[in-house]
Amino acid sequence: MAKTIQIKSNGGPEVMELVDLPVGEPGPGQVRIRHHACGLNFIDVYQRSGLYPAPLPQAMGNEAAGVIEAVGEGVTHLKPGDRAAYAGGGPGAYCEARVMNAMVVCKLPDAIPFDVAAAMMLKGMTVQYLLKRTLPQGGIAAGDHILWHAAAGGVGLIACQWAKALGYQLIGTAGSDEKCQLAKEHGAAFVINYKNENFVERVKAITGGQGVKVVYDSVGKDTFDGSLDCLRPFGLMASFGNASGPVPPFAPALLGPKGSLYLTRQTLFTHMSTRESTQAMADDLFEVVASGAVKIRIDQRYALADAVKAHRDLEARRTTGSSVLLP
Ligand SMILES: NC(=O)c1ccc[n+]([C@@H]2O[C@H](COP(=O)([O-])OP(=O)(O)OC[C@H]3O[C@@H](n4cnc5c(N)ncnc54)[C@H](OP(=O)(O)O)[C@@H]3O)[C@@H](O)[C@H]2O)c1
Repeated sequence: MAKTIQIKSNGGPEVMELVDLPVGEPGPGQVRIRHHACGLNFIDVYQRSGLYPAPLPQAMGNEAAGVIEAVGEGVTHLKPGDRAAYAGGGPGAYCEARVMNAMVVCKLPDAIPFDVAAAMMLKGMTVQYLLKRTLPQGGIAAGDHILWHAAAGGVGLIACQWAKALGYQLIGTAGSDEKCQLAKEHGAAFVINYKNENFVERVKAITGGQGVKVVYDSVGKDTFDGSLDCLRPFGLMASFGNASGPVPPFAPALLGPKGSLYLTRQTLFTHMSTRESTQAMADDLFEVVASGAVKIRIDQRYALADAVKAHRDLEARRTTGSSVLLP
């Protein structure tokens, strides 16, 4: 049996309960992993609320790190005793131990502690595919400005550092002066407090009226229209989240007069469709973390049993950097 955070209906943080669930043995292509730390992500909120519907009851969570206890038939990249970490593989990561699809589980380098791994796999691989594979026409060159919303969050602080390592001038938005300062300390070239500044005007001023080649927008409803207005002709709007709510239906014809813009809605799990693509993204992340180019900042630690409080804090914008739940 393993203590697990589960929901039986969709709703607010209070629908999450700590229950005992049987764990069992791994079948073909599966592993059993005992968690040392579990990651907290905004997708957990969407799955809990029902914005991203899934069958109920549902165990919560999409990211964790721990030790492999058993491997099923056909699993060759992991063995019992290996340190490992993952993102995805289906919800159920808020638990002491689970059986899951081995495809998404990666062997963890010794240099990376379990709590750091649990705080970075989903967020770091997201930054990897956005900065390396979700690019405007002609790519991004060193010195180019890019706009990144919620730059002081879990994904955001990783993006600030990785973008700087790639030579990009990241313009980061955040919801308070303290958060703006944090993004700056982590490598943002410019910061905008979008609660009291007009981010479109500031981006235009910073870029000499040109606008940016790409906006990475995970805030959704509140920033979508403004983000389009920050782009230069042929620029790319890379929408990848909805922390403020989903973007309402929208007419593609609007993209023409704004400068023949491109729009994409990306999700990590498309990029993780094979073992090879998952491992390649993880290896790139392990390298920037092991080299020190990207430091994973864990600003909140909760007991697994306190998942309700963790969700309340995340949704109320009280968190910065990454958060972990400790079983
Ligand atoms: N598509 C993908 O592949 C993918 C993968 C990973 C994450 N994501 C998305 O990336 C975003 C960041 O994820 P994360 O887990 O690292 O979370 P996070 O950034 O640590 O937390 C979300 C942040 O969004 C900002 N925000 C703006 N309006 C908000 C509102 N009305 N309610 C709550 N927050 C609001 C807040 O920062 P401020 O106070 O500074 O505004 C908040 O701290 C999320 O939207 C998530 O869904 C997408």
